[in-house]
Amino acid sequence: MKKLKIFYLSFFTVLFFAVIYNGCSETENNLVNAPDIATHPDGWADQSSVNFHGKYINDNKQWNLKVCQSCHGKDYSGGNTGSSCLTCHTSSGGPQNCRLCHGGTSGHAYPPKALNGETSVSYIGVGVHTYHLDSTKYSAKVACGECHTPFSGGFSDPNHIGNNPDGMGDINFGSLAKTPTTFKGGGINPDPVWDRNTATCSGSYCHGNFRDGNTEAAPVWTDRNSVKCGTCHGDPVTGNPNPLPNGNFFHPHYPNYTIDICYQCHGSVIDASGNIINKDKHVNGEVNFNN
Ligand code: HEC
Ligand code: HEC
Ligand code: HEC
Ligand code: HEC
Ligand code: HEC
Ligand code: HEC
Repeated sequence: MKKLKIFYLSFFTVLFFAVIYNGCSETENNLVNAPDIATHPDGWADQSSVNFHGKYINDNKQWNLKVCQSCHGKDYSGGNTGSSCLTCHTSSGGPQNCRLCHGGTSGHAYPPKALNGETSVSYIGVGVHTYHLDSTKYSAKVACGECHTPFSGGFSDPNHIGNNPDGMGDINFGSLAKTPTTFKGGGINPDPVWDRNTATCSGSYCHGNFRDGNTEAAPVWTDRNSVKCGTCHGDPVTGNPNPLPNGNFFHPHYPNYTIDICYQCHGSVIDASGNIINKDKHVNGEVNFNN
């Protein structure tokens, strides 16, 4: 009986110290390791440093910010680091604000200002976004979802950055670029293609793949002058938009038609001087005439 008591006593004593030791060693490990992993290099918060965190994120394709969230908290308020992102990133959404990584000029979320900071049209990430989105000349503003996979779940939507970002906007055409021609026998079903090597877009309804349009037109994304009146339909050289399929005019369009005649039948779209007066009715998925 006594032996059993001593056994239990020593058993629990050993167990007690084992637990204490273990507990301590865990805390001790945390104390030793945490600053090791957590301490960022010098200049991490300094925009002019080569170690700046914005540069690190860009160079290492860490845009989905999951790594940062793992220590600084899902809401970026500090998590167990006690160091909040929101003290500096004060705009709504903190570091997820749509204008932080791209856009940001004129208050919008799209380039100019590509991910790498480029703002010139000749850079592929910038291109002619502005001419499809702000200062459109020929059509209504084109929704992001007509060229990119649309997403409604905000920053963390899998169609935005995903787990393996490559730093390129993915191109996935929406319904406008694929508008089929249904009149005059139909038969045209555009299957537009984005060629990143040449930065061209071909086969789209918008740029000529419709009946009597210039089906071979391939505008260059990085050259705003690659599209003018006559590029999508008509004569790309003279700029006369009078439809000229395969070099032949077709009824009711005749060779003598110039830009100041179109309004007679397409008066809701164009005026007597050849200006597009209603952008919502041009490149809108249908031919507007006599209305
Ligand atoms: C392993 C945990 C851990 C990860 C992952 C982590 N951080 Fe930190 N971070 C910390 C800790 C702890 C601090 C506070 C101590 C310090 O300054 O080193 C901190 C501080 C900071 C600071 C403030 C530095 C200063 O000097 O004011 C910034 C900015 C920062 N982190 C950004 C980031 C970004 C951006 C990421 C993701 C790319 C990230 N952190 C990932 C643990 C982490
Ligand atoms: C000490 C202030 C400060 C803190 C704290 C801070 N940032 Fe930043 N961060 C900046 C500045 C400044 C920029 C550059 C802003 C700009 O380009 O408009 C920036 C840029 C960024 C960018 C843009 C990267 C790119 O490619 O342009 C991201 C993403 C980012 N920070 C994430 C974080 C995250 C996540 C945290 C917290 C873990 C954090 N930041 C904490 C100051 C800070
Ligand atoms: C932390 C940086 C960052 C922030 C903040 C950010 N984005 Fe992005 N965005 C990216 C990156 C990186 C890409 C390129 C996608 C890839 O690499 O796969 C991208 C691409 C896009 C695209 C092109 C389509 C695509 O998915 O490729 C759209 C549209 C977009 N972002 C909208 C938004 C909106 C809207 C917000 C605000 C909710 C936002 N972005 C906030 C980094 C960011
Ligand atoms: C007319 C088609 C078109 C529309 C509309 C469009 N984009 Fe893009 N976008 C592109 C092309 C083309 C690229 C370059 C893709 C590549 O690099 O392969 C791109 C790239 C991007 C990138 C990546 C930038 C970089 O640094 O590489 C972002 C971010 C982006 N777009 C956001 C948007 C947002 C936000 C909208 C809507 C407000 C939008 N885009 C509308 C065609 C479009
Ligand atoms: C006499 C009336 C008339 C005039 C003038 C006219 N159009 Fe048309 N246009 C039409 C009709 C009708 C259609 C509808 C398609 C059809 O039935 O051929 C059409 C269709 C079009 C289309 C779509 C392609 C197609 O085959 O349907 C374009 C582009 C077009 N017109 C441009 C012009 C331009 C540019 C001018 C001026 C140079 C012009 N039109 C002058 C009557 C006219
Ligand atoms: C970006 C390509 C593009 C450019 C540039 C362009 N058009 Fe069009 N145009 C179209 C498309 C697409 C249609 C509709 C064809 C269809 O639905 O079959 C169209 C149709 C028309 C029509 C027929 C009425 C209508 O809108 O349905 C007229 C008139 C016309 N364009 C005049 C012009 C004039 C004038 C210019 C130069 C100021 C011009 N277009 C430049 C793409 C273009």
